[in-house]
Amino acid sequence: MGEDKAAVWDGGACGTKKHSLKFKLSLSYAVMALLLVASVSLISNLFFRSQFNRYMIRQQDAKNREIVSQISRQMVQNSGSSRAQALETVGVSALERGVIVKVYDDSGRILWDATAHNGGFCQQMLKNMAEEMQSRSPNFKGEYEEKKYPLMSGVKRIGTVTAGYYGPFFYSANDADFINTLNHVLFGVGLGSLVLAVLLGIYMANRISSPIAHAIGAAENIAKGNYREKIPQASGTLELDRLTASINRLSDELQNQEVLRRRLTTDIAHELRTPLAALQGNVEALIDGVWEPTRERFESCHEEILRLARLVSNLDRLARLEDENAGLRLSEVDLTAAAEKAVRSFEAERMKKKIQVSVSGPPVKIAADADQISRVFVNLLSNALKYTPEGGAVRVTLSEDEKNAAVEVSDTGTGIAREDLPYIFERFYRTDRSRSSRSGGAGIGLAIVKAIVEMHHGTISARSAVGKGTVFRVVLPRNQP
Ligand SMILES: Nc1ncnc2c1ncn2[C@@H]1O[C@H](COP(=O)(O)OP(=O)(O)O)[C@@H](O)[C@H]1O
Ligand SMILES: [Mg+2]
Repeated sequence: MGEDKAAVWDGGACGTKKHSLKFKLSLSYAVMALLLVASVSLISNLFFRSQFNRYMIRQQDAKNREIVSQISRQMVQNSGSSRAQALETVGVSALERGVIVKVYDDSGRILWDATAHNGGFCQQMLKNMAEEMQSRSPNFKGEYEEKKYPLMSGVKRIGTVTAGYYGPFFYSANDADFINTLNHVLFGVGLGSLVLAVLLGIYMANRISSPIAHAIGAAENIAKGNYREKIPQASGTLELDRLTASINRLSDELQNQEVLRRRLTTDIAHELRTPLAALQGNVEALIDGVWEPTRERFESCHEEILRLARLVSNLDRLARLEDENAGLRLSEVDLTAAAEKAVRSFEAERMKKKIQVSVSGPPVKIAADADQISRVFVNLLSNALKYTPEGGAVRVTLSEDEKNAAVEVSDTGTGIAREDLPYIFERFYRTDRSRSSRSGGAGIGLAIVKAIVEMHHGTISARSAVGKGTVFRVVLPRNQP
């Protein structure tokens, strides 16, 4: 019941109905194509019509002039009754071509008049033409028009002709056919390009939306904890490729974290089990009377307890360092002095393993938390000495530029394998999977160093060659923001 309500409410929260990207893209392509095709056809149709009408008007005028020149020829060649005969022949043929002719002589006397010759036919013809034009284009406004043309014989004016016609122009059945065919072609081309545009739009929308759908699927898989499946990366679109690449990276990173998390649990168990097992064994032996309760026995128990206490206090320190609100007690720290002091604290170990230790570089002073900086040196030096065999060398090198100070701690020790290098700063991570207590600590030292460096807005990195040695590089800003 409650679930039902939530579902309904959720739908309401969305407000508008959601459409898929593919649908929206296809729709926008189609609408764009429709607008484009419609406007192109409309413009070309309008342009063509106005050109065609102008052409028709010119045609009508040419027809009139041809008739006028025929009349003037007859006027010049004939006289008297044969002239009247000739004028009638020309006038009737003009009438058949839709032109109503009236001929006047130079004194304005009428010589021949088509309306007088056959007025009924003229009326009927104009009416038919008007009806035809109206049926072809209902918006056409046509009416009877007359134009006057002079009758010339050489340079001498011998009369006037008025040519009456249905104007401004008239489409014959052939003309109308031509226009219709053209309109059909235009419409066909428009429809064709519209279909093509929609198909292309759907294709493009598919190309864009399918990698996104893949990415969504992958992200859902990742959310379910399935990191193995990778998205194929060949959409041909820069942004989409970057999206899939970062999802793939995210999945890799999560997978790594998952592996580390599992490993962390077993590592912690191991770190706790070893001293506890030793303690348990010792105490049981004392209780059972197998061992005499001597000072040495108690001291060895005490050692295991110290080991546990050290682990807990290291974890404590790490937790405090990673607390967002933890503050730095800033003062001016002389890095060279801090390095030398840390080196001195390892004097005994250095002598025992006959390892050369040197500090070099200009005196560098930065604003930092002195206690924490000396812990960085101690942890890095303790590792360098621990993982360097007898007779080796450990160097601390300092340098600076305007903004940063850099510290490099290098050794000629065992080195770190390439596959371990990305993880050595993780808590409890040790390259020695057997975690022997003789070869190292609990694996928290570098995690603490990294936390301190990051609190100081610095960076730490390591490069290493197995069998040759390792270099840890710490870069710290000279002033804290
Ligand atoms: N200078 C070094 N040379 C070789 N390996 C190193 C060096 N420093 C650290 N490591 C590797 O990184 C791991 C993590 O170091 P750290 O966090 O200090 O733990 P540990 O308590 O083992 O010293 C070590 O177990 C070791 O395998
Ligand atoms: Mg260490």
